Amino acid sequence: MATSPTENRGTWNSKFGFILAAAGSAVGLGNIWRFPTEAASNGGAAFLIIYIICVALIGLPVMIAELSIGRSTQKNPVGAFRALSNNKFFPLVGFWGVLCGVMILSFYTIIAGWTFSHVFVEIFTFMGMDGAAGLLADFGNGYINAIFAILFMGLTILIIRGGVSEGIERATKLMMPLLVLILVIMTSYVIFQPGATEGLEVYLKPDFSMITGELVLAALGQAFFSLSLGMGALITYGSYLSKKENIVEAASFVTLADVGIAFLAGLLIMPTIFLAQAQGVEIYDGSGNFLAGPALIFQILPELFAQMGGFLGLTLGVSFFFLLSLAALTSTISLLEVPTSYIIDEHGIRRKKAALYVGLSVLVISIIISFNTGLIDVVDYVFSVIGLPLGGLLICIFIGYFWKTKSAVDEMKHGFKDIRDSWFTSLWSIFIKFVCPIIIIIILAQSLFG
Ligand code: PHE
Repeated sequence: MATSPTENRGTWNSKFGFILAAAGSAVGLGNIWRFPTEAASNGGAAFLIIYIICVALIGLPVMIAELSIGRSTQKNPVGAFRALSNNKFFPLVGFWGVLCGVMILSFYTIIAGWTFSHVFVEIFTFMGMDGAAGLLADFGNGYINAIFAILFMGLTILIIRGGVSEGIERATKLMMPLLVLILVIMTSYVIFQPGATEGLEVYLKPDFSMITGELVLAALGQAFFSLSLGMGALITYGSYLSKKENIVEAASFVTLADVGIAFLAGLLIMPTIFLAQAQGVEIYDGSGNFLAGPALIFQILPELFAQMGGFLGLTLGVSFFFLLSLAALTSTISLLEVPTSYIIDEHGIRRKKAALYVGLSVLVISIIISFNTGLIDVVDYVFSVIGLPLGGLLICIFIGYFWKTKSAVDEMKHGFKDIRDSWFTSLWSIFIKFVCPIIIIIILAQSLFG
């Protein structure tokens, strides 16, 4: 018997559970490896300050916007736009979000698989099994990439099959505190190591001469990706939220958690890079820039852990890659939930089947990318660098000029009675109608033609 579209969509059990799930979506590989190196190559604390401004001025308003659309309609992104306006174009915006989710998930799963395989690389290295460690660490090996992508997707599908409260909420409630605990322990250990101060200085001493248009754009792009905005992840998570809850407060918590964890990750990664340099590990590329992204995480850090050697190296290595895997998993969950909720709502397919079908379809793309990892950059560019801000822009235009900011403010009123005539709603409306769209158009123009 097929489920009717609205039957049993699921709801969050508690406000805390929702906040952890949304923070889990936001906190991911973007926070732990991308943020710290962006900061390092862009003037340290100067980047941090601009990033926080971007998050507060653009990220937070757009997050509140997505949550309002989701909770007001209790639908997936496509159904939500259809429910709020007769305009035939906007459901396509929802569909674009679903597509971005599918495509981002297809390559994110591979990188997540690398983090997971490195838990084993660390163990094999400790046991002196260098051959096995080398095999797993070889990203040129499509079979290894595919196997770990399959494993990671398998875990993600299992959680999504469990549903909103029993799957997503239960899993993130377990994983997020663990992630914070590991991050805090590792950071406290690293910052007190002799030699850590140089890294802390690069990270925390603002070099304001580095603030350029390009830096602002980098910070904004990072904000979109890191807060999971522009593809309807928060429309979907918002659709399971009760009318009792305060959207503005929840969005503020999620944003704070995301920025806080990115900041902590910087405190861990930056000193670690310099500790590695002190051990003779190369940390700059040919042109004098920091080795960012995969090279930083999968070369520099394992070398450092190996040089530390013994039980300490093993413990730090395993904890670090386990931490990254947890962060990635709470993000892949949200990436799979978006297309799954679309299939459940719009095609009346039961959750367990929908999660499996969607997960396996995305896996087909992941396996193709596993054997052609050069595609990661292309897919990332189209669906996250361009795709997310484009989605965010269209969401702002939709609320500002079609659904109207007043309707969104009415939605926020549930769970937040006093908001009606506050300065906050007027300011938020101006941001959604003018400030956010104009700034996003500038970023997009810069990434496309700059
Ligand atoms: N926010 C996640 C990260 O920082 C990535 C993500 C983007 C997740 C879009 C969901 C939607 O890694």
